[in-house]
Amino acid sequence: MNVVLFGPPGAGKGTQAKELAKHYQIPHISTGDILRANVRDGTELGKEAKGYMDKGELVPDEVLIGIIKNRLAESDCKPGYLLDGYPRTTPQADALSAILEVIGMPLEVVLDIDVADEELVTRLCGRHMCTCGESYHMKFNPPEKENVCDACGAELYQRDDDKEDVIRQRLDSYKEKTQPLINYYKEKGLLVDIDGTGAIDRVFSDICNILDQYK
Ligand code: AP5
Ligand code: MG
Ligand code: ZN
Repeated sequence: MNVVLFGPPGAGKGTQAKELAKHYQIPHISTGDILRANVRDGTELGKEAKGYMDKGELVPDEVLIGIIKNRLAESDCKPGYLLDGYPRTTPQADALSAILEVIGMPLEVVLDIDVADEELVTRLCGRHMCTCGESYHMKFNPPEKENVCDACGAELYQRDDDKEDVIRQRLDSYKEKTQPLINYYKEKGLLVDIDGTGAIDRVFSDICNILDQYK
C-alpha cells in the first residue's frame, strides 16, 4: 500500500498516520518528525533546518529529497509506505515519482484531508506533542494523564512552531507552495478528498474505507 497523506498544517495527518500505520502495518514516514529528531540531536541537518522551521518556512527541496530517498530505501518500506508532510512542492513531487519508479513502488493514492483555516489554528494552538510522534490536543484529544504520552509515558511538549504567528506563516507557505499539488495529483487521477472535520475516529474510518481498496 503506497500512500501520501496530504493536507494543511493541523489537518490531522500525524494523528491519522499513527493509527493507519498500526492498522495496515506500513511505516509512517513524517518528514517533520525526521527534521525535529535532527534538530533535537543537533545534527548538521538539524542546524540547517531549524531556522526555516522556526519561521514556518519550507526547508529547501534538495535537503528533503535526500531525506526521503534514503528513508524509502530502508527495508521496512517493502510492504509500502505512508508519507506525511512530503511532498510539499512540485520539485519534491517530481523527485518522488522518479525515486518510486526506480524502486518499483508507484504511488497508489493521495488522501487530501480538508479542514477550514480557523479550525486549523485552534487545533495547532492547543496541540501537545510527544517525541515519539504522538500528538494530543488539550480539548479535542487529551492524554489520559495530563501532559504524559499515553503511548510511551514521556512528558509532552509544545512545538516551537505552534505559535499563532508561525502557524499563520505555515498556512501561507502551504497555500503558496503546497496546495498546487492538489491539481498535480488530481490530473494523475490519484487524489481522494477526505473531510477532516468531525471526530478523529470518524475521519479514521473514512480513510480506512478508501484504503481497504488498496490492500
Ligand atoms: P510538519 O511536522 O509536517 O508540520 P505541518 O505540515 O505543519 O503539519 P502538522 O504536523 O502541524 O499537522 P498534522 O496534520 O500532522 O496535524 P496533527 O495530526 O498533529 O512540518 C513542520 C516543518 O518542517 C515545516 O513547517 C517545514 O519547515 C518542515 N518540513 C517538513 N516537511 C517538509 C517538506 N517536505 N519540505 C520542506 N519543509 C518541510 O493534529 C493537529 C492537532 O489537531 C493535534 O492537537 C490533534 O490532536 C488535533 N486533531 C487531529 N485531528 C483532529 C480532529 N479530527 N478533531 C479535532 N482535533 C484534531
Ligand atoms: Mg504532523
Ligand atoms: Zn510518546
